[in-house]
Amino acid sequence: MSDRLDGGHGGTVAEQSGSMLAGRRAVVFGGAEGIGRAIVEAFAAQGASVLSVDVQESPGGSSQVRSLIWDVRDERLPAEILDFDPDIAVNNVGHFIRPPTSFVDADPSEWARLHDINFGYALRTTHALLPAMIRARRGAVINLTSVEAHRAIPGHTVYSAYKAALMQFTRSVAAEVGHYGVRVNAIAPDLIETPQVPYADLVPREHEHMWERWSPLGGPGQPVDVAGAAVFLASDLSRFTTGTTVHVGGGTEVAGGWFRRGDGGWTNRPLNP
Ligand SMILES: NC(=O)c1ccc[n+]([C@@H]2O[C@H](COP(=O)([O-])OP(=O)(O)OC[C@H]3O[C@@H](n4cnc5c(N)ncnc54)[C@H](O)[C@@H]3O)[C@@H](O)[C@H]2O)c1
Repeated sequence: MSDRLDGGHGGTVAEQSGSMLAGRRAVVFGGAEGIGRAIVEAFAAQGASVLSVDVQESPGGSSQVRSLIWDVRDERLPAEILDFDPDIAVNNVGHFIRPPTSFVDADPSEWARLHDINFGYALRTTHALLPAMIRARRGAVINLTSVEAHRAIPGHTVYSAYKAALMQFTRSVAAEVGHYGVRVNAIAPDLIETPQVPYADLVPREHEHMWERWSPLGGPGQPVDVAGAAVFLASDLSRFTTGTTVHVGGGTEVAGGWFRRGDGGWTNRPLNP
């Protein structure tokens, strides 16, 4: 991790206790591990009651955090989620398929899988939960997209297409429900250390110094960095913000193809380290 990301400032806002979400009820889909888990913890630390929904048990259950086992690809939303009556919903589940395969060589049977896990379920959960939010005249939906909703990812073409669809869904539904006091936004992560992308294993020790060149802010980022954006988008801090995307990727989206050289300059034609 770069010095800037490990600055010893006593933790990020998302790791501190507060009351920004006091009295709120948040459901987080995919809340057991990685980014989802950090969001669950940050919401609870800010006073929300949280229902963590996942295919595996979510750790650290308490009176404030409950765990529900459910596969988001199942068509029927369990009654427990509707009874919980959330005014915050985080569609965090999403995956790509390894190994990367060029589109022409892809197996079409994989497209439905990619659709269901990255896009289809989020339509269903949002459709099921919006009516109560509209009735309450209050709600926040947060969709986890990816930098690859905005930028190409060769070898994962269909994944990136469904992430882009989720981003565009975010924009259009936000326009529809805004006047009911319901906001819908997206977070587009990149370079976040999680079980899905375990950079500690993927990057050999002798290449760790290269993080400084791979993104303007170095890296890797941590799930708590995404949780900070989620607290912002769930709370009244963002009460006049809807239909947009917060990028949490160390600046890879804006740097798009430009890399820092060893001498401090920039290149769009990096050489091997
Ligand atoms: N980590 C990154 O750098 C990165 C980059 C771009 C986008 N994202 C997006 O951020 C989101 C979270 O990513 P992550 O890296 O934390 O993922 P992760 O795979 O580490 O964690 C995903 C969580 O979702 C749960 N889950 C998986 N399938 C499920 C299902 N069918 N039903 C219910 N729960 C299920 C898992 O058990 C796990 O708890 C995803 O949408 C991902 O596409 C992450």
